[in-house]
Amino acid sequence: QEKPLVILPNLTSCHESMGRSDLPVYCCPPMNQSNVAIIDFQFPDPSLPLRVRRPTHLLDDNYISKYKKAITIMKSLPDTDPRSYTRQANLHCLFCTGAYNQQGSNSPLNIHRSWLFFPWHRMLIYFHERILGSLIGDDTFALPFWPWDIPEGMVIPEMYMKAPFFHEARDFSHFPPSVVDLDYSCTTPSSEDYRCFESGLGPEDQVHTNLVLMYNQMVAGAKKMELFMGCPYKAGEGGSCNGPGTIELAPHNTVHKWVGSNLNPGSREDMGVFYSAARDPIFYPHHANIDRLWDVWRTLHGNKVITDPDWLDSSFFFYDEKLQLNRIKIRDVLSITKLQYAYEKVDFTWLNNRP
Ligand code: C2O
Repeated sequence: QEKPLVILPNLTSCHESMGRSDLPVYCCPPMNQSNVAIIDFQFPDPSLPLRVRRPTHLLDDNYISKYKKAITIMKSLPDTDPRSYTRQANLHCLFCTGAYNQQGSNSPLNIHRSWLFFPWHRMLIYFHERILGSLIGDDTFALPFWPWDIPEGMVIPEMYMKAPFFHEARDFSHFPPSVVDLDYSCTTPSSEDYRCFESGLGPEDQVHTNLVLMYNQMVAGAKKMELFMGCPYKAGEGGSCNGPGTIELAPHNTVHKWVGSNLNPGSREDMGVFYSAARDPIFYPHHANIDRLWDVWRTLHGNKVITDPDWLDSSFFFYDEKLQLNRIKIRDVLSITKLQYAYEKVDFTWLNNRP
């Protein structure tokens, strides 16, 4: 009898983890979660309104003030509340630095650099969005997405330059009108002479280079499932793998580094490293765009989806707006329509940019 190799975190195993190779961090919830009741995730009622995620360059003042209000309330909640901004940011720290072990083994669980990347982040921002909406009593509330893949979105969105969305720990030399470098790279974090490489390209060339990169990551270099989704990470000792998909490597990692602060060399906190990335409010529209691109990729490649039950039944735990702890499976997040949200359409400019 073969054991299913589904991933499931052991919530009682939360422990200190490494935020950087030289920095132990403790991101665990303040209270023991062993006696919290867990519910199985249920799809939202289809009679509820669809949440439409819009691109950051097309938001109106009315929307921005709602989001402002929601995030301000979220930031005011105490850390004992799983809906608080700190607890939300710590979720990323927990699952990305291996702070939980898997159930039934002592292997630490990490959701990056594998096929867990897209679905886990989808869950994270989905619950985050529901919580924000409920804090302002608006069930139409939707996160914005930062479309750095199209020319209109290739600078830090204006609203993220102002409170409460502004964040100190960023590279000031990359503020608008600086065009994002989707292929921004740095030497290995531990190297003595750590440095990152500015492309030195003028704005037009940078936009063009970005579009060519997008074409490669979404189309030419991502024809096979595993190239795009990442390697199959299975439960248990030795089940982990290290093979990020095209988009996870770039623009995902590269935009994280590009936004993060040059004053923290080696790691570029906050956005540049897992344990602190979700403290920066720009993390969420960045991930909404990643999430959108997963959907776009499926449309471009005949709606391809992984059918391995080890992936489909891998599950995670997230608090919802009612403070209920949901157990949610990857198979539950494969249709954004069933999750009752959608992305406003933007042109895939990069689709015409074969190198
Ligand atoms: Cu979990 Cu953008 O990283």
